[in-house]
Amino acid sequence: MGALKEIQPIKTGLKGEILIPGDKSVSHRSVMFAGLCDSEVKITNFLHAADCMSTVNCMRALGVKVKELDENTLIVKGNGFHGLQEPQSIIDAGNSGTTLRLMMGILAGQKFLTTFTGDASLSRRPMGRVINPLSQMGANIVGRKENKLLPITVIPAKESLQGIDYQMPMASAQVKSAILLAGMNAEGKTTVTEPYTSRDHTERMLEGFGVKLEKSGTSITISKVEKMTAPKEIHVPGDISSAAFWLVAGSIIEDSDIILKDVGINETRTGIIDVLKAMGANIELLNVRDEVEPIADIRVRYAKLHGTSFGADIMPRLIDEIPIITVASMFAEGETIITGAGELRVKETDRLQVITDEFNKVCPCIKGTQDGLIITGSQRNNLQKAVCNSHNDHRIAMALAILGASGVGIEIENSECVNISYPTFYEILTRFE
Ligand code: S3P
Repeated sequence: MGALKEIQPIKTGLKGEILIPGDKSVSHRSVMFAGLCDSEVKITNFLHAADCMSTVNCMRALGVKVKELDENTLIVKGNGFHGLQEPQSIIDAGNSGTTLRLMMGILAGQKFLTTFTGDASLSRRPMGRVINPLSQMGANIVGRKENKLLPITVIPAKESLQGIDYQMPMASAQVKSAILLAGMNAEGKTTVTEPYTSRDHTERMLEGFGVKLEKSGTSITISKVEKMTAPKEIHVPGDISSAAFWLVAGSIIEDSDIILKDVGINETRTGIIDVLKAMGANIELLNVRDEVEPIADIRVRYAKLHGTSFGADIMPRLIDEIPIITVASMFAEGETIITGAGELRVKETDRLQVITDEFNKVCPCIKGTQDGLIITGSQRNNLQKAVCNSHNDHRIAMALAILGASGVGIEIENSECVNISYPTFYEILTRFE
């Protein structure tokens, strides 16, 4: 069993400013795309967390130079679009689905062999959703259990990859990105269509690297690329998925008034703000500015929340925020009904199962359904101090911590997994105890 962490209840409202660490999705992509160019790229506000370091290690294994100027500043120097080199050993993607799935797309058209492993969680997660479309393009990728699971080997394809027109069965930025990245090495055009638009960081950032994309509704088309042109510098915005924990804490802890600094507010990511506002939250965007991604400071004040309902259409815009939205719903008046969340069953854990198993130890008010949750609210005075397990899922650990801090305290087993996306999380939380 990993570290047990005790979280104390927060007695007064949250006040002051919180600087939100760099976005995980953008950090991964910044190193990958810079590594496909031949000029030096400086990356600032890079998220120095375990998942993004899996990507750094992977790119290093493929011959890309990555220098760490300080914790959050990298200098990346690749060898050009066709310059990746054969790794000398197996690459460990750790806990990171984004590393593994996007890299499969990048490597599908390469002329050398790469084998990936990962931790116990990543080894359970479905990879057929990427391997199947890449195989249709002519890629040769093999994995355990009929090419669905790690370990996975990307073998050089016999002939050049061919573009496809692919209808994705689920909304997933990881799957979409893998296909687009493979499409950059494929003959003809590659089109992906999603049921709903997932986060579009790959599309925005590729355009920033001079790659042409055509967009129509939820479809994106890419053609073969010969060269990518890197910007000199990439500034990574703060991660709204990390800000989410403070958006909820500030909304449910009485007397709170906080400002979350430099948060990315790309509209494919801001579903949590829409849902919290629909619940009655007091959230204000300040100092909105536009870089490659839109950024703002976010002011959050305590508010009386009420229950809400939401489903599949908004799900890709808040896919990682369901654990913390569940916490908000426990404090809201009335019932919250979440549907269309089946994708949560294949995240770092089966999050629908883990939420019902662990959050109900604090207060038995959550019913799991096949593709969602039903939460009975108004539980502020019914919370018990329980020992809950994160199951090594970073977002579950942080949501449990906010649940405990907003209520009567909590003990969290396997608490150290916050290092996957937000290593300073507990440090900031204890500032408010
Ligand atoms: C991510 C996409 C999402 C998200 C994950 C990061 C990305 O996964 O859950 O944390 O960086 O592309 P899916 O696209 O598979 O839903």
